[in-house]
Order: sequence, then C-alpha cells, then structure tokens
Amino acid sequence: MSAPVSTPVDEQPGVTSLRRKDLLGISDLSPEEISLILDTAVAMKEIGSRPIKKVPALRGKTVVNLFYEPSTRTRTSFEIAEKRLSADTLNIAVASSSVVKGETLADTALNIEAMQPDMIVMRHSSSGACHLLSRICRSAIINAGDGMHEHPTQALLDAFTIKERKGRLEGLKVAIVGDLLHSRVLRSNIHLLTKMGADVWVCGPPTLFPADVARFGVKATSSVDQAVADADVVMLLRIQLERMEGAFFPSLREYFNVFGMTTARLRRAKPDVMIMHPGPMNRGVEIASDVADGPYSVILDQVANGVAVRMAVLYLLAGGGADHEAAA
Ligand code: CP
Repeated sequence: MSAPVSTPVDEQPGVTSLRRKDLLGISDLSPEEISLILDTAVAMKEIGSRPIKKVPALRGKTVVNLFYEPSTRTRTSFEIAEKRLSADTLNIAVASSSVVKGETLADTALNIEAMQPDMIVMRHSSSGACHLLSRICRSAIINAGDGMHEHPTQALLDAFTIKERKGRLEGLKVAIVGDLLHSRVLRSNIHLLTKMGADVWVCGPPTLFPADVARFGVKATSSVDQAVADADVVMLLRIQLERMEGAFFPSLREYFNVFGMTTARLRRAKPDVMIMHPGPMNRGVEIASDVADGPYSVILDQVANGVAVRMAVLYLLAGGGADHEAAA
C-alpha cells in the first residue's frame, strides 16, 4: 500500500477548511487551523443544546475508536461526537481483541482498514503510534493520546474553554503545574498556547521537568507562588504514577504540601482565575477537593466542551468547512 500524505492547509489567514488527512498533534497545526477548529466547535456546541442533538454531516461515514489505554472522557466524548454527526461508530475493546494473542499494531490497523472505515481514533501507550498508523492507513487518523507525546484534542478543548470564558488566548498568563515529564497534555498545550500568543509558565518538581522544556518558549519554575502570581488560568496536571518507575518526589503527601493547588495558593492569581484539569484527578495530590469543586473550577466545562471540539475535528477532517456543505 502506498503511504498517504498529510497535505498542510494553505498558509493564508482565515482558512475555511482543514486540508489534511489526519490530526496527529498540535505541533503540525498552524494558528489559522487552530482558530478554524475552535470557531467550528462553537457551532458544534449549539447542536448539543438542541432537543434533537443530531445532524447528518457524517452520515455514511464509519469511525473506529481504538483505545489501547484506559479512557473515560476522551473515548466517551468521541463516541458522542460521532453519534451527534450521524457517523456509524464502533469501539474496539483491545482487551477482548486479537491484540492479546500478540497481533501487532500495524497488523491490527491493516485488518481494521480492510473493513473500509473512514476514520480511526486511536489512543496508544507508545509515542508516535498514530504517526505509524498515518503512514500505513488510508483512513484519517485522529490521535486521542500517544504515550508521552501529544493529546491534541485535549489541548483544543482546553483552548476552547479558555476562549469561551476569557474571549481570547493571546496575552493570558497560563500556569501549568504538575507532572510535566510524563504529560502529553502538557506538550499539546505548550504547542497550542504558545502558537496563539499566551504567556505560558510550567511548574513542578525539578525531577519532573522535561529536559527540553525551555526550547518551547515557556517560562519554567519550581515555585508554585511564582507560577500562579497574576495567572489568568491555572491548569493542574495529574501525577502519572503508572508512568513512573523511580521515586520522583518523597511522597504524595509531600508533593501536595509543596505543589498541590489550594485555595490559599490561589490567592496570588487573578481574581477571575480559571482552574483547569484534564482529568482524571488525584484529589489531595495535585489539587485540593475544595479547589476542584470550587467557584473557579471549569473542569466539568472542559469535559462538556470536549464533545463540541471533537465534533469539529471529525467534521473538518471529513472535508467539512465553509467551502463545503454546512454541518446543518
Ligand atoms: N483527559 C483525558 O484524556 O481523560 P481520559 O483519560 O479519561 O480520556
């Protein structure tokens, strides 16, 4: 099979369609493409507020959700998004598939491809797994999280949630605090927020700093007070114990004492600060429960917006946009 090529969108402002085969990462996207997805998600969110939450935009298209790692929010919201767009959607439970008999990722993908799906949404523990699929599959590949590399739709829904509240991304101080080293959410958010002109600060224990983080145009500190001072947005990242082989800090209790987000620590932020977390949360580790459930928290708004943003991604990758038929 010849390798399909992802064609970048026109390098012009005000793009009206996403002329690429796959969504593999935010690093590939231009600011214009990011704006197009976020603007399209506004219209998709309106569909979710209707009594009949369904439009025919993806009728006749088949979408396969292939999750090699656990997921609650991403898998569920992709499936809801696909159904709202009238796609035929199916979920492959890896634990009950031939993967457990040793079938490789490439063979699994090629066998799914033989059944003519139009899109494959994949989560995998290996960084770059979606790029492999992109090279061997005709179907559009959407990265739902690959190892410690990227989680592009999470960053898009985070940006959508910030824009919804603040009206912009440019010039906002966004402090991202937590397990920086293992976080694909961090990488996608750094790419997106810096492309869109935000002032991005990252904060965590020195043992959890990626070696190359300064290269991405962010400010790095191990002082939570410095990171949070005058922040418009504070985003907490989960401590990913399942990806840690060594001891990166003495104990979870000590992590909370130094880096956990509490009401007291938040007093240094702007009065209208937004508290974000991609989930799942470790309450009492990276975030205190009263902050997670408090008045500044938009954590459940992020989850709700995930459906609209994923609808936008599916619709645009299927060829939708202003120069194509409208969604509804
Ligand atoms: N934010 C996120 O990816 O959550 P899930 O692991 O539940 O999909």
